[in-house]
Formats: sequence, C-alpha cells, structure tokens
Amino acid sequence: MAFLSWHQRFSVGHAEIDQQHRRLFELVNHFDDVIQMGMPGELPHIVEDIISLGDAHFRFEEGVIQDTGFPRVAEHRKMHAELLDQIRVMQTRLMAGGHVSHKAVVRFLADWLTNHILREDMEYKPYLRT
Ligand SMILES: [Fe+2]
Ligand SMILES: [Fe+2]
Repeated sequence: MAFLSWHQRFSVGHAEIDQQHRRLFELVNHFDDVIQMGMPGELPHIVEDIISLGDAHFRFEEGVIQDTGFPRVAEHRKMHAELLDQIRVMQTRLMAGGHVSHKAVVRFLADWLTNHILREDMEYKPYLRT
C-alpha cells in the first residue's frame, strides 16, 4: 500500500503544479517501496531525484506565483531554499550510514512535502487565476 495517497485537499487548483506535487508523492512512495524491498543502496538515488524534481518544481511554482499579486512571494522562495537545505542535510546523513532509521526518513519526507503544500502552498491558492 502506498505510504502517501493523493487527496483533493492537496490540490492548489493549478493543474501543472498539482501534477508536479503528485510526482513528488510518487517518489516518496517509491522510497517506501524500496525500503520494503530491502534495497537500501537505492535510497540515496531516490532522495537525489526528490531534490532535483523538488528544485525544478520550486522554480516553476515561484514563476507561477510571481505575477499573481500574492504578497509573500519572497518569503515563499526563502522557504523553498530552506526546504532544499533540510533535505540535503538528510541526504548527507543517509549517505553517511550509521544509525539512520529508514522509516524515520520516509516520515520526514512525507511531512516535508505535505506540510509545505498544506500550510504554505495553500496560501497562494486564492491568488491563482487558472
Ligand atoms: Fe509546491
Ligand atoms: Fe511552495
């Protein structure tokens, strides 16, 4: 069973952004699947994919909200940079091995993604004209 399931409450009402969010959900689920399959060597690659897709998504989203009149574009951009920093720190820890609980990492990834969508991305939703 998928670790994260998409739900309408995650929709910001912009088809391309929703699609990108869904692809990030799929990567988090893939991370969980790979844990279940007992292939921990694959995990850093999946995190790498989350970082590159996340980075591309953040830049796309910043472009979309730029001209909407949403007043917190600069703060939103700063949050994106912090989110990338957080995931890179986690990636370093994962690569270093040691006592990293993979289940804790998948929960971190799920929270990392869903909290930002529900708390911060939703703030710009009323400003989108789609
Ligand atoms: Fe987003
Ligand atoms: Fe965002």
